[in-house]
Amino acid sequence: PQLQARLQPLIDAHKDRPGALLPLLHAVQDALGHVPDEVVPLIAPALNLSRAEVHGVISYYHHFRRTPPGRHVLQICRAEACRACGSEALAEAAQRILGCDDHATRADGAVTVEPVYCLGLCAQSPAATFDGQPIARCTPQRLQALADAHGL
Ligand code: FES
Repeated sequence: PQLQARLQPLIDAHKDRPGALLPLLHAVQDALGHVPDEVVPLIAPALNLSRAEVHGVISYYHHFRRTPPGRHVLQICRAEACRACGSEALAEAAQRILGCDDHATRADGAVTVEPVYCLGLCAQSPAATFDGQPIARCTPQRLQALADAHGL
């Protein structure tokens, strides 16, 4: 019931628009920090979609988290420009430094590491964000400094 109360205004704001599902899912993640499975039976009938269709979209887009994020969130861009500038190696360094798998939340809930696909900082690759703050030309040293600063 609590979830429904938080969700209903979002559903109402989107449901009559064409292509409502994606913007609605974005709004849900902005509001809740993730898109829990329990929203699917609430969203699907409102948009005249099957639950399978809604599930399919949530799992197709990397952007949507199905579980709550950690207290800190590191996103490393894995799109083309950043890939060409070593973002895969950076992501490996991040996993080592933070003790957290890629696309996962560390067991103690302190940090989530996840891929993103272009942050609009292609000229300053490899790019990342930490708790929403952009980091241009990110390096393992920079990640280590962030980890130290936040006790990670
Ligand atoms: Fe990484 Fe655009 S490709 S910021």
